[in-house]
Amino acid sequence: MTNTDRGQWRSRMGFILAAAGGAVGLGNIWKFPYVAGMNGGSAFLLVYLVLILFLGLPVLIAEVMLGKATQRNPVGAFKALDHEKSPWRMIGFMGVLAAFMILSFYSVVAGWCIEFIIQGAKGAYSSSSSPEDVQKLFAALTSSPSKQILYHGIFISMTIAIVYAGVQSGLQRVCEVLMPLLIVILIALIVFAMKQEGWQKGVRFLLEPDASKLTPNTILAAMGQCFFSLSLGMGAMLTYGSYLRKEDNVVSSSAWVAVMDTGIALLAGFVIFPIVFTFGVEPAAGPGLVFVSLPGAFQQLPAGTIAGIGFFVLLLAAAVTSAISLLEVIAAYFVDEFKMDRRKVSIGFGFLCFLIGIGCAVSGNFFDILDKTSSNYLLPIGALLISMFAGWVLKREIAQSDFKDTKFAKLFGLWLSSVRFIAPVLVVLVFLNKLGVFK
Ligand code: TRP
Repeated sequence: MTNTDRGQWRSRMGFILAAAGGAVGLGNIWKFPYVAGMNGGSAFLLVYLVLILFLGLPVLIAEVMLGKATQRNPVGAFKALDHEKSPWRMIGFMGVLAAFMILSFYSVVAGWCIEFIIQGAKGAYSSSSSPEDVQKLFAALTSSPSKQILYHGIFISMTIAIVYAGVQSGLQRVCEVLMPLLIVILIALIVFAMKQEGWQKGVRFLLEPDASKLTPNTILAAMGQCFFSLSLGMGAMLTYGSYLRKEDNVVSSSAWVAVMDTGIALLAGFVIFPIVFTFGVEPAAGPGLVFVSLPGAFQQLPAGTIAGIGFFVLLLAAAVTSAISLLEVIAAYFVDEFKMDRRKVSIGFGFLCFLIGIGCAVSGNFFDILDKTSSNYLLPIGALLISMFAGWVLKREIAQSDFKDTKFAKLFGLWLSSVRFIAPVLVVLVFLNKLGVFK
């Protein structure tokens, strides 16, 4: 199959927006604040930013590079670069497992957005309803498995429908408009947050260094969040890279994706923590953090109902584009490896995720296990293997061609040592630290 048959991004910007659209999702706005809140705020943020730079970015470049070089799916890519029975295919297999786990709880959380859109339409964010009532919405939702399962079913059906019909590119175009809107609404909320009494406390929570909070769990959580947010460690970004054109630059495109993804997470953090402190919400409240804190803020905004509904609609849209990238990894694997029918695969495995997700709607523990196992273990192990493959197995000329004759030529050595040594060593150190080896 030639390159053009598979379809390509229309421009470098097309790739950046599509990849950023897949990366930016619930991870930035729902997960980042709650994981930061549970892990000491500033201590978490500092480690997170360092890891994005030294771990996330090099691995992101590696994934996009492998995709661009092979123009294949995650399993096919390793076969093409190594050989048919290459053990590196394992990466693809683990990626599929991670995709199942992530999509199952991801869809439940995306379903929560639907409830908050409906509540907004019923007037929950208007100044006439009380702040106490709106803070209780989340608890009411999570104590109703049937409601959660219904919304989860709606969301996963939307995801399946899009992957089934293969209209991702059309949807990506919609997101090219929605993503800037999401940024605008976050900035408007920051302006609101600045005027609240909790602003300084929120900012200090994120920026005031506090070494005492730097625990092995904080570091592990920051690493998991780094891979989760950038969609790394399971071949999703490799798939995006496989649609890049020859002339597109892997390094600068990847850097842009990382900057946009991290920027949006930071915006969300600076919106949420000041509001959390203003409304007396516990920063370590867990997965409900965004849903408990923000609605109270909407109530105080002049056009609160519109802002609140708009916010959750945009969050839902961002979640859809990320969810299709997860289902796509699953679909591509079974279609390519077992010659299964694409449509049957999307429906069948989408339905399986629906069933697994029911467990998350019923049990917070099960939710936590899927969330933590995938982010904190499967993705880092996948990323470790991907970076070692790019560093040690991939032909040097192939890797070098993405740096040579560009303004990044001087960075090749740094990238190569990152994927050969720095990234693998960092992942292993974080694991050992978590196991208590350095105590
Ligand atoms: N990065 C997405 C988010 O932040 C979630 C996601 C989509 C993902 N595809 C992925 C996470 C692949 C890990 C791997 O919401």
